[in-house]
Amino acid sequence: MQETGNISDQRKERFIQLPKIIDDRGNLSFIEENFHIPFKIARTYWIYDVPGGEIRGSHAFREQEEFIVALSGSFDLVLNDGKETRRYSLNRSYMGVYVPRMTWRTMENFSTNSLCLVLSSMPYDPSDYIWDYDSFIKELKSKTILSVRQQTDISPLLSAYNSPVTTVYNCNVFELPKEHNRAGNLTALNNGVEVPFDVKRIYYTYDIPSGATRGGHAHRGLCQYLIAASSSFDVLLDDGCNKKLIHLDRPNFALQIVPGIWRELLNFSSGAICMVLASEKYDESDYIRDYQDFLSFKSCKL
Ligand code: TYD
Repeated sequence: MQETGNISDQRKERFIQLPKIIDDRGNLSFIEENFHIPFKIARTYWIYDVPGGEIRGSHAFREQEEFIVALSGSFDLVLNDGKETRRYSLNRSYMGVYVPRMTWRTMENFSTNSLCLVLSSMPYDPSDYIWDYDSFIKELKSKTILSVRQQTDISPLLSAYNSPVTTVYNCNVFELPKEHNRAGNLTALNNGVEVPFDVKRIYYTYDIPSGATRGGHAHRGLCQYLIAASSSFDVLLDDGCNKKLIHLDRPNFALQIVPGIWRELLNFSSGAICMVLASEKYDESDYIRDYQDFLSFKSCKL
């Protein structure tokens, strides 16, 4: 789905089906900003460990737009535009809902092990929240024309990566913020703040059969954050000289992979979801898929 046609159609509340690349090694879906979703991503967050019976997110946003997917398990998204209420049951990793600004939204009926991914058009801003339904209705009726905030293009903070020679020692695991409360945990990354680049694409692999390995390639320019959003897996990193094996098993830890590193993903446990925040949209010419080509690429850099 491209950002074409009538802009008001693009910004209508709706289900959006994502690509699903079916593979013997598991399935893969991806979301690119201004392409599958009608906005530029400013923040990515995910909600997990939600106890049964809890209700989350009863509020509206004045300007923020969102795209919400159930990466695992299921929950209901209940939306109200001031006139009607609609309920979306989310239970597929390749199907999400676009939520326009000024929509009252609630999430409920979380299943065990549910994992909710939210892409947001704005950095976290408490002043954008409307917490009270009556005030929401009043603001809708007041017909205040709110300017759609100019989305700033935060230039990638790539100084750490611009070194011509990257090694596995440039790839580290970071503990991410975790907002804990009775209704579960939430980890949020604002572009250019908690993640040192602009996230333009999120992709995730799921339904991975035991014994499968993935990866087996390097990227010339792409920066990535890898997260075990559910269960666990190992990542074998290789810079042509050194190797490093990293175990990922928590949704609030991310492995940063800089460009020019060969990686393999292995030892997936049952129900594992590998979620990747990527600095660029998909580009096959950025891949090095042959190990000998990778070694030549590195030796010309070393
Ligand atoms: P690939 O990156 O090779 O997966 P893995 O590293 O897990 O082996 O991607 C598998 C296929 O999916 C490949 O044919 C390209 C396609 N794909 C996209 O179209 N968009 C994307 O964002 C990604 C990551 C992959």
